[in-house]
Amino acid sequence: MLRDNYVGFLLLLLSLISNSVCDYCKTKCGNLTIDYPFGTSRDCYHDERFPIRCNQKEQKAFLARQNLQVLNISLDGEMQILMNTSRTCYNINGGVTKGQEHGVISTDFTFSSKNQFFRIGCSIISSAEFDVPMTLAITECITYCSSPQLNDGSCSVRGGCCRSLLDPGSSKLELETMTYPNRTDVFDVNPCIHTFLVQAGYYNFSGREDLKNLRNLTQFPVLIDWSISDSTCEQAENKSCYENSDCINRRHGHTCKCQEGFQGNPYIPNGCQDIDECKLSDRHCAEHETCRNTVGSFHCKKRKEWKIILLASNIGILVVLLVICGLVLKFKSQQKAKCREKRFEENGGILLAQRLLDSGTHASIKIFKEEEIKAATNNYHETRILGEGGQGIVYKGIMSDNTEIAIKKARVGDRNPVGQFINEVVVLSQINHPHVVRLLGCCLETQVPLLVYEFVSGGTLYDNLFGSSLPWEDRLRIAAEIAGTLSYLHSSAPVPLVHRDVKPANVILDDTLSAKISDFGSSRLFPADREQLKTLVQGTIGYVDPEYFNTSMLSEKSDVYSFGVLLMELVSGEKAVFFIRPQTEKYLVTHFESALKENRLSDVMDRRVVNEENRWQIYEAALLSLRCAKVKGEERPDMRQVAAELEGLRASGATWVESINIRSLKLNKVIDISLEY
Ligand SMILES: *[C@@H]1O[C@H](CO)[C@@H](O)[C@H](O)[C@H]1NC(C)=O
Ligand SMILES: *[C@@H]1O[C@H](CO)[C@@H](O)[C@H](O)[C@H]1NC(C)=O
Ligand SMILES: *[C@@H]1O[C@H](CO)[C@@H](O)[C@H](O)[C@H]1NC(C)=O
Ligand SMILES: *[C@@H]1O[C@H](CO)[C@@H](O)[C@H](O)[C@H]1NC(C)=O
Ligand SMILES: *[C@@H]1O[C@H](CO)[C@@H](O)[C@H](O)[C@H]1NC(C)=O
Ligand SMILES: *[C@@H]1O[C@H](CO)[C@@H](O)[C@H](O)[C@H]1NC(C)=O
Ligand SMILES: *[C@@H]1O[C@H](CO)[C@@H](O)[C@H](O)[C@H]1NC(C)=O
Repeated sequence: MLRDNYVGFLLLLLSLISNSVCDYCKTKCGNLTIDYPFGTSRDCYHDERFPIRCNQKEQKAFLARQNLQVLNISLDGEMQILMNTSRTCYNINGGVTKGQEHGVISTDFTFSSKNQFFRIGCSIISSAEFDVPMTLAITECITYCSSPQLNDGSCSVRGGCCRSLLDPGSSKLELETMTYPNRTDVFDVNPCIHTFLVQAGYYNFSGREDLKNLRNLTQFPVLIDWSISDSTCEQAENKSCYENSDCINRRHGHTCKCQEGFQGNPYIPNGCQDIDECKLSDRHCAEHETCRNTVGSFHCKKRKEWKIILLASNIGILVVLLVICGLVLKFKSQQKAKCREKRFEENGGILLAQRLLDSGTHASIKIFKEEEIKAATNNYHETRILGEGGQGIVYKGIMSDNTEIAIKKARVGDRNPVGQFINEVVVLSQINHPHVVRLLGCCLETQVPLLVYEFVSGGTLYDNLFGSSLPWEDRLRIAAEIAGTLSYLHSSAPVPLVHRDVKPANVILDDTLSAKISDFGSSRLFPADREQLKTLVQGTIGYVDPEYFNTSMLSEKSDVYSFGVLLMELVSGEKAVFFIRPQTEKYLVTHFESALKENRLSDVMDRRVVNEENRWQIYEAALLSLRCAKVKGEERPDMRQVAAELEGLRASGATWVESINIRSLKLNKVIDISLEY
C-alpha cells in the first residue's frame, strides 16, 4: 500500500517535469489545445502561417495573420475555422446597395475538398475562379427563382442556389457576382445574394428561409488542409518529422503522423510517445498473465513479482526523461544557430549560385540582409503593401540612405515558390533594359525568399487603365514601349526569353507613365537552338495563347497573343475576360472578332478616349491587335513587326488625314470607316 503511494508520487513528479520541460509551447485557449507547429508566442510557431492569437476575454483562438477564428486543429493536417459569409444587396433595379460584387476568399493553407461553395440568391450571374496550379478552374452560376414554390432541401439553380465542389489544392477563390438589372420579380423574395464556403454537412439549403436573409447566419465552419512545409517528404528528407513518426505527402507539402503504437506530436523531438497499451481496456491479457508495455507495442507474461519490475522501469523512465529533456534543450539552442544557414539553403541559395553559374553571366546581384529588409519595410507593415500578385505580396521599402525599393515576398503557403523566384533572379540578372523593372538583389535568410527591385511609383497598367482613364496618346505609347521591349526580349536580349504572362497587371508605370515590364517568375529562357519548348502551361485566363494551351508548345508567338489581348484592352478600355457577357463575347478576343466580322469595329473602341483625330489610329491598333491574337501562331506577326507598326502609328498621328488617303487607296474598308464618321 505504502509502496503503491510512493510509486504514484514518483509518477506524478515525472509527469510534472516532463510537462514543464518537454511539452514545449503547448498552451490552451478556451477549449482549444494549441500545439506546435501552431503557437501563441514568437519562438513557438513553426513559421508565419502558424501564429495563433488568443482572445482571453472571449476564450477564442484566431489565426493571427488572417484573423480567422480557429475551432479545431488536428495534428494530422486538418483544421476547422470560421469564415464570414459575403453578402451583396441590391435595389429593385439591380444596383448594389450593400457589399461588393467582387470578392476574394483565401487562406495561407489550402481549402479542403470536403468544403462546398454556395451562392444563394435569385437572378445571380456569377463566376468564380479557383486558384489551382496548372488548371483554369472556373465555376459559373446562373440562378432563377421560379416562384412561388421555392424548393426546400435540395440546392438547385431554379430554387436560387448554386453549390460547387472545391478543386483539391486551391488556396484562393476569386469571385465575380452580379445580378440581372431588373429585380422587380425577385426583390421581395431575395434582397441580397450570399456567397460562402462551408464544410460539407454543416449547411443545408432551405429556399423558404435562406433567400430572405440566410437565417441571419454570418459565419460557417470551413475545413482547411494545412501542411508543415511546401516541399514533399523526399525534398524535406524527413527533416520535419521526428522519431517514431512517418512523413505523409499531401497534395500540397507534407505532414507527419505518429507511427502505430505511438501518440502525440510528431513535429517535436520525442513528441510521439509510446502508448501504454496495457492501460487500454481492449488489449487485456488473459487472467493469469501480466501485461507488459514495450516501446511501440506490448506483450503478455505469466504473473511475476511485478512491483519490483514496475519500480525499476520507472526509475529507468526517469533517467530516460531527464536525458531527453536535456537533449531537447540542447537541440533548441542548436536549432536557432543553424536556422539561418538552413534557410539560405532551403531558399535556394545554392540553387541560385548554380543557375547563375550555368547561365554564364557575370551579373551582380546584391544579397540583402534580413535586418535591412525588416527595417526598410517597418517589419512588413500592412501600410507598406503595394499589391498582391500571383506570386506573392509586394512591399515598399525605404533603405537607410532613403532610396526606395520594392520587395516581393512569396506567400508562405505558396506551392514551391522558390523555383519561380530563382527563375526570376536568373532571368532578370541578364536583362538591362529601360522598360524592364530592374532587379537589385535578393534576401535568402528569411522564411521565404525575398526579391528586391527598383521602386516604380505609378502603379500598374491595370490600375491606370481600369481604375481611371488613360488618354489614347499614352495608351499608344505604352503599347509601343511594351511591344519594343518584348521584341528585345524575344530576339536581342543576351539570352532570348518568352515572358509567358504578359498582361496589364504585370506592367508597371513610372511617374512619367513610362511602362516597365515586371513579373518574370514564369518566364522561360530559350535555348540557343531556338526550338520550341514543351512546358507546363502557365499564364492567366483570357491572355493565354490557345495554341500554347492546347499543345504546351511554347514560342515567342504566345507572348504576341497575350500582347494582342493587352492591346485590345487599351483600345476598348475593357477587361480581357468579362464574365457577365454572353458566352460568345465573354472573352475580349471573341468580342473583337465578331465586331470585325460584322464590320462594326468602332463599337469596341473606348468611348472615353476616341475622337475625330485619333479614330483612325485606334482603328488601326484594333486591326493590329486582331492579327496578334490569331488562333494560329504562324499567322501572327512577330513582336518586331508589331513594335514597328505601333511606332509607325505614333509617328503618323499628326498627319492622319494624309495617311488615311494613302491607305484608302489600298484598302476599301478604311474608306467605309472614314465615311462613317
Ligand atoms: C467549451 O466546451 C464546452 C463543452 O464542450 C462548451 O459548452 C463551451 O461552449 C465551449 N467553450 C468554447 C469557448 O468554445
Ligand atoms: C474537433 O475535431 C475532433 C476530431 O477531429 C472532433 O471529434 C470534434 O468534434 C471537433 N470539435 C469541434 C468543436 O468541431
Ligand atoms: C467577420 O465578421 C465580423 C463581424 O462582422 C468582423 O468583425 C470580422 O472582422 C470579420 N472577419 C473577417 C476575417 O473578415
Ligand atoms: C421589370 O420586370 C417587370 C416584370 O417582369 C416588368 O413589369 C417591368 O416593366 C420591368 N422593368 C423594366 C425597367 O424593364
Ligand atoms: C442536412 O441534412 C442531412 C440529411 O437530411 C442531415 O443529416 C444533416 O444533419 C443536415 N445538416 C444540417 C446542418 O442541418
Ligand atoms: C434576423 O434578424 C432580424 C433583425 O435582427 C430579426 O427580426 C429576425 O427575426 C431574424 N431572423 C431569424 C431567422 O433569426
Ligand atoms: C525517411 O523516412 C523513411 C521511413 O519513414 C525512410 O524509409 C527513408 O529512408 C528516410 N529518408 C531519409 C532521407 O532519411
